[in-house]
Amino acid sequence: MIDEKRWQEIDEKEPIPSHILERMEYLRKKHKDVIDDEWIKRPSQIEGIRKAGEINTGVLDEVGKLIHEGMSTQDIDDIVSKYTAEHGGICAPLNYEGFPKSVCTSINGEVCHGIPARHRKLRNGDIINVDCTTILDGYYADASRMFMIGNVSEERRRLVEETKKCLEIGIQAAQPWAHVGDIGYAIAKYAHSKGYSVVRELGGHGVGIDFHEDPFVAHVGSKGKGMVLVPGMIITIEPMINAGKAAVEIDPYNNWTIYTRDGSDSAQWEHTILITEDGNEILTY
Ligand code: MF3
Ligand code: CO
Ligand code: CO
Repeated sequence: MIDEKRWQEIDEKEPIPSHILERMEYLRKKHKDVIDDEWIKRPSQIEGIRKAGEINTGVLDEVGKLIHEGMSTQDIDDIVSKYTAEHGGICAPLNYEGFPKSVCTSINGEVCHGIPARHRKLRNGDIINVDCTTILDGYYADASRMFMIGNVSEERRRLVEETKKCLEIGIQAAQPWAHVGDIGYAIAKYAHSKGYSVVRELGGHGVGIDFHEDPFVAHVGSKGKGMVLVPGMIITIEPMINAGKAAVEIDPYNNWTIYTRDGSDSAQWEHTILITEDGNEILTY
């Protein structure tokens, strides 16, 4: 969190609108789970996170332009760190809880947190998630996309496209005064209807002042359950969808990379979303 003094200054200059504060208090009295006021983003903070998002989008666009068969995931790391530095940003993953690289690159049966490496080359038919988080002036934005390398099988292409649809459906459900559970409910319902499973152990999160803030945004859930989505909250939605079973396991050697237990393919897309009074806004377009 930002230091107490700076926080008090922001709270004085840019207070939460009283009608929102009143509704938060009313819901707390009704025993709803409502986030603490300090995590509701103020206009100057939203501007900062939006700018971080613009760079993060630029990074992913740059990766999209340069990615090709035969290059290594370390080459992707090089592209991300160079572009980010040139635009005045910092790659949040580097040294985050000991993560050794600037970006996550997760191929095929890797669900997330793949670690870039010189020896890991992209092959014809691979699907890869590139997950970037940019810090700019202390503000965080987090997004990821899938890329398809060469001739990708129909099954993999469908998984990539339907997972993108899951993200869009999740964003659609992230309405002001709805609940975090509505997001997971909508995503899981759609994924299951397509014969896919949803990873449960990892999820989206509050983001902006810190890399991972409350709430945890599960991609499965129940309507009307979980934290209330208050205008001014910024969260990520980042469904991890498996072609096979939902179970995952962590790499016992690097302690980071998550794989599908059954070895089936997995896809993921992520955006950073601002909850507004009349809907939401994607800050990583
Ligand atoms: N960007 C990931 C997310 O969406 C987190 C990666 S943590 C790292 O939350 F350390 F692996 F980078
Ligand atoms: Co991410
Ligand atoms: Co994230």
